[in-house]
Amino acid sequence: MAAEPRRKIVAGNWKMNKTVTEALALVRELRGMVSMLRDKVEIVVAPPFVSLYPVAKAIEDSNLKLAGQNCHWEASGAFTGEVSAAMLKEAGCTYVILGHSERRQLFGETDETVNKRAQAALKAGLVPILCVGETLAEREAGRTLEVVERQVKGALAGFGAGEVASFVLAYEPVWAIGTGRTATTAQAQEVHAALRAQLARLYDGGTAGQVRIQYGGSVKPDNAAELLGQRDVDGALVGGASLKAGDFAAIVKAGA
Ligand code: PGA
Repeated sequence: MAAEPRRKIVAGNWKMNKTVTEALALVRELRGMVSMLRDKVEIVVAPPFVSLYPVAKAIEDSNLKLAGQNCHWEASGAFTGEVSAAMLKEAGCTYVILGHSERRQLFGETDETVNKRAQAALKAGLVPILCVGETLAEREAGRTLEVVERQVKGALAGFGAGEVASFVLAYEPVWAIGTGRTATTAQAQEVHAALRAQLARLYDGGTAGQVRIQYGGSVKPDNAAELLGQRDVDGALVGGASLKAGDFAAIVKAGA
C-alpha cells in the first residue's frame, strides 16, 4: 500500500505578542480567511499561555488548531512560572512547540531538557513540534548538519518509531529567525533531506516518510510558495508574519 502523502502543516508562533483581546481579534479574523481551505493544510496558532483557553473557545468548529509555546516536564508541583503538558492539553492544545532557538539561547534549554519536555508532551496527548537549527557561526564553520542532527538525536532519545511518526520537526536556522534573511530553497531542502535520512537511519524509511518537517525563519507571503514547494519541506513555522491575519493566511494558502 502506498504511504499517505504528508499533509502540510503551517503554524504561527506568536512568541510574546498579543494580549488576550488582541489574540481573540486576530484569530477571529484569521478564521474567516482560511475557512475555505478546510483540511487541505493543517493550520496551527501558538499564542502566549494566557490566551490559549479563550482562543480555543474562539476557534471551536473551525479548521484552526492550537499549540503551546513550551511546557515543563513535571506533571505538577513547585515550579513557579512553568506550565504542564496536561494543562496545555486541557486548555485546548493539540501541539506544543519545544526547543525553539529562543528557548535554547535565552532560557538555557538543552537537548536533554527538550527531550524531557517531549516525553511529558506525548504522555499528555500532545504532539511535539521539535525545533532545531544552527547559528550563523556554525553554518559558516560547515557544521550545520552535525548540529541539527545532534539536536534531533537528543530530542528523540528514548522514543520509538510509532511515537516519532506523528511528531513534527521544525528546521529553523537561527540566522534566519526574525532577520528577514531566509534560507534559500536549496539550503532548506538540503537540511530537510538530511534530517529525513537521519530519521530513516534512527528508525526506518516508513517512519521517516511520515514525519513532517517544517521550515522556519523569515517565512513571508512572498517566499512561502517556493519554500513549501520543496520535496522535503512539509510546512512552515512562522513568527513575525503570523501576527497579521492577511499575511499568515497567504502563507497557509501557499501550503494548500
Ligand atoms: P520569524 O520567526 O518568522 O519571525 O523569522 C520564526 C520562528 O522563530 O519560529
